[in-house]
Amino acid sequence: MRRILVTGALGQIGAELVPVLRERYGADRVVATDIRMPPVGAGEDGPFEFLDATNTHLLQELVRKHEVGTVYHLAALLSAVSEQKPHVAWDLNMGGLYRVLEVARQNRCAVFFPSSIGAFGPGTPRERTPQDTVQRPTTMYGVTKVAGELLCDYYHRRFGVDTRGLRFPGLISYVAPPGGGTTDYAVEIFYAAIRHRRYTCFLAPETRLDMMYMRDALRATVELMEAEPARLRHRNAFNVTAMNLTPEGLAAEIRRHIPEFRIDYEVDPVRQAIADSWPNSLDDSAAREEWGWQPEYDLAAMTQDMLRQLGARLKTY
Ligand SMILES: NC(=O)c1ccc[n+]([C@@H]2O[C@H](COP(=O)([O-])OP(=O)(O)OC[C@H]3O[C@@H](n4cnc5c(N)ncnc54)[C@H](O)[C@@H]3O)[C@@H](O)[C@H]2O)c1
Repeated sequence: MRRILVTGALGQIGAELVPVLRERYGADRVVATDIRMPPVGAGEDGPFEFLDATNTHLLQELVRKHEVGTVYHLAALLSAVSEQKPHVAWDLNMGGLYRVLEVARQNRCAVFFPSSIGAFGPGTPRERTPQDTVQRPTTMYGVTKVAGELLCDYYHRRFGVDTRGLRFPGLISYVAPPGGGTTDYAVEIFYAAIRHRRYTCFLAPETRLDMMYMRDALRATVELMEAEPARLRHRNAFNVTAMNLTPEGLAAEIRRHIPEFRIDYEVDPVRQAIADSWPNSLDDSAAREEWGWQPEYDLAAMTQDMLRQLGARLKTY
């Protein structure tokens, strides 16, 4: 088996995906890369290389040096940051993906590309959004995600590159902090509940969005990449989901464990507008049918595990 290279490996997903891949395929077979260096004492359980994902030459060099056969391309700007820096978002989200696909084509690598519920827009059916539907996003993040999905499909059809991808909903996790997305509240709320017993939310109480616990997201990623190719009709950008949340619903669930927890609201108009342009919920039946996707964590199971794991890390809960 050729090696795996992960871009953006120090982010919210990469910080947990790299250990899962190392456990499964061998520590020395997974090369973590990022434009940041790992914190002192971390990142010593396998190879790490500095890589700006928009640098074709360095990417090419690393893929050849480490005999890479699969790239998990995680480096990107997330939704809220992309609205602050649309030009940087275009350069990284599109430029990075294009270069990864080109290097993959030249070196016969497979590519995993995470898309997002941000690939949908206000014209998309909002409830149980279908796998194949209108995609006219109004954010720079969404524009780069739709274009990315199409580019991955193109590289598969035209050049035979084994591209696969998921449309993740908001991801909830406790290892690395989220990188500036619209669903970050669903992570911040746990830190605030454990530390301060109160949280000021930047989305309105009834804003409904799909979410997923990181463990399910990592399993979905591995299962899709190991799926029998003949079964995949969609390949890129499978809708996947696990639970449907509002800030007030999540606060109520946390209150079952921390009765004195209080939430109030200071709505951020930029992130609220992004959330309002996204689907309320996703239909993930294509993923279920084509590669057997099945989430394990619902709201209750996720909340219980988050409080336990994060509480142990913060040593206060
Ligand atoms: N976290 C979520 O809720 C979520 C949901 C849907 C989709 N996604 C997608 O998953 C992918 C990873 O998301 P994440 O949450 O881990 O993001 P993150 O912001 O936490 O991490 C991104 C990483 O990329 C690195 N990076 C930034 N610029 C780079 C560059 N030029 N070259 C190389 N690395 C660079 C950063 O240092 C960071 O470690 C992204 O494509 C994101 O759009 C995430």
